[in-house]
Amino acid sequence: IRVQASTLTALKELALHCARGAGQLSLERMKQPFTVEYKTSASDLVTAVDKEVEKHVVETILRHFPDHGILGEESTFAGDPRQFDTLWVIDPIDGTTNFVHQQINFSVSIAVYHKGEGLVGVVYDPSRDEMFYAVKGEGAYLNDRPLRLERQVKLEEALLCTSVFWNKRAEQMGIDLIVKKLAGKVRGMRLLGSAALEMAYVAAGRLDGYVSLSLNAWDFGAGRIIVEEAGGRVTTMTGSPLPFDRKSSVMACNPAFYEELQHYLTLTENDMADKGAT
Ligand code: IPD
Ligand code: CA
Ligand code: CA
Ligand code: CA
Repeated sequence: IRVQASTLTALKELALHCARGAGQLSLERMKQPFTVEYKTSASDLVTAVDKEVEKHVVETILRHFPDHGILGEESTFAGDPRQFDTLWVIDPIDGTTNFVHQQINFSVSIAVYHKGEGLVGVVYDPSRDEMFYAVKGEGAYLNDRPLRLERQVKLEEALLCTSVFWNKRAEQMGIDLIVKKLAGKVRGMRLLGSAALEMAYVAAGRLDGYVSLSLNAWDFGAGRIIVEEAGGRVTTMTGSPLPFDRKSSVMACNPAFYEELQHYLTLTENDMADKGAT
């Protein structure tokens, strides 16, 4: 790690502070009506709360570190995120649909990257007051409890999670085939609707694995650091290291069945041909 211990502590404290503040603000705003808009379609929502929370977090960060970069879902980011040594990757509300419909099962996701290396990851679930966080090299925590994936889980015993946006494109990419291939091999499948929280749950052992064909950098930026620090494995679905500043597929899981899971995620030409035939 190329940053000083004191800097790392300051980054962690600020990330925790911002996540808690953001969570409290979203709970507060939830009590009253707020506007909901469609971004690209009826299943892609943004609320006034998403925007307000992100603005609040960004302002707080830049007050402390004016020269840091921000990659946030709701801010229009001008320029290349790689031009900054230190980049904050933020999702003010991950699981906006849950925020609107359920008023639970959403989270705040904040990560700090330095020259592409994940230093701090925080995922906060305000409705349950659960703070999942990790600092590179210092382990992962849920509130003050250390998270460690010590239990070796077999794929047949695994509770897997996927965040499928079940649309035409996901089908073209073969998500239906993947789910079909996996369904009989695992103990159960879940779909909770907040990628950041789902990854945090993998770190906490509440889920054993999480798979997505396509997520944005702010969806997995923090969760990936938390899972890795808990001893889990996180890569793209084809086994490459995750990027920190752009879209990617994601697999995060208990290390015991990583290879086996990846085998089922790999679609062969035969799979795709069969698909074409049906
Ligand atoms: C979404 C959630 C969801 C995932 C979507 C994301 P948002 O984030 O993480 O679980 O399936 O791909 O876009 O838009 O609610 O922040
Ligand atoms: Ca969104
Ligand atoms: Ca998100
Ligand atoms: Ca969001």
